[in-house]
Amino acid sequence: MKVNGTPYRSLWWNHDTATLEIIDQRWLPHDFRVLAVETMDDYAEAIRDMRVRGAPLIGATAGYGMAFAMREDPSDAGMDAAWDRLHVTRPTAINLRWALDRCREALRPLAPGDRAAAALQLAHDIADEDVEINRNIGLHGLDIIREISERKNGGTVNLLTHCNAGWLATVDWGTATSPMYHAHEAGIDIHVWVDETRPRNQGALTAWELGSHGIPHTYITDNAGGHLMQHGQVDMVITGTDRTTAQGDVCNKIGTYLKALAARDNGVPFYVALPSPTIDWTVSDGVAGIPIEERDAREVTHVQGRTEAGISSVQVTPEGSPAGNPAFDVTPNRLVTGLITERGVSEASTAGLAAMFPDLSARKSA
Ligand code: MRU
Repeated sequence: MKVNGTPYRSLWWNHDTATLEIIDQRWLPHDFRVLAVETMDDYAEAIRDMRVRGAPLIGATAGYGMAFAMREDPSDAGMDAAWDRLHVTRPTAINLRWALDRCREALRPLAPGDRAAAALQLAHDIADEDVEINRNIGLHGLDIIREISERKNGGTVNLLTHCNAGWLATVDWGTATSPMYHAHEAGIDIHVWVDETRPRNQGALTAWELGSHGIPHTYITDNAGGHLMQHGQVDMVITGTDRTTAQGDVCNKIGTYLKALAARDNGVPFYVALPSPTIDWTVSDGVAGIPIEERDAREVTHVQGRTEAGISSVQVTPEGSPAGNPAFDVTPNRLVTGLITERGVSEASTAGLAAMFPDLSARKSA
């Protein structure tokens, strides 16, 4: 998508330097900085410290991390060490493990001398496939938005999203935002309520993205969504997901569950944009089975923003108050109206997902 009129992906391969370059998301929306990822430490830190973030983008970065590792040490031991090193960086987003497993399975049968080139090609493939998956999610989501628009006789369709499941969280298009971009391009009148999403205020990333594309939006606090739904100001919720189980339980950024509860109470459809690599076919009950990342308490006690002196961080809590920081929660499938996948809209259930992805469900749960 575009930044100041220039098309960008959230990461790309620099063929001149043979390095990965990323948009360093720690500084957004205030500062647009590009960072070269040059060592294995860089790869691990980029994911752990959220220089790249969002489940699909974490997966794509891990693919390039494996490619880097194969250039350094293409032995089985080198491959396994890279898998381990990258896998521990973030526990919840399943795309990380999906990408690492995909690389290892493809590379293992190859002679070590062939692995570096194959791994780099695989990393490019994973990135390109992500773009295509998200584009298709957008087209299926567009159908739902168009239907709402027709029901409202072309009146504004008010969408609500939580956190950033935009192009910054993927390689391009985003998951939850892809239907928004497609609807906007199709000339449908939409407006997006953007939850700020404490503690890292990731709604600000969504607002930045939507603003860059001229999509009407309003940035609201984490807790305003329920009130807006009670007053008929939300037609549809679309969120992303970091891991969705085989039975359609959706793990996403903390606070998503509360939006789903409010949506159910107010009869607002609650959709989740779900790329197939985000499905964990090995887990059914998401509340019991998904590890929830507990992040640094400083993300809660401090807030980063722009001051006249530049980007800085201020403390918002009293000195000494302990803070907790679970980064994700799980929305049970019963609260999910539908899963917008690259193949179409699926019911959030074991039967629905298995019917949409018979090839993947059979292979992974075997
Ligand atoms: O912790 P993050 O920033 O990596 O969280 C991921 C997210 O941005 C959201 O949970 C998102 O809605 C799912 S990723 C498309």
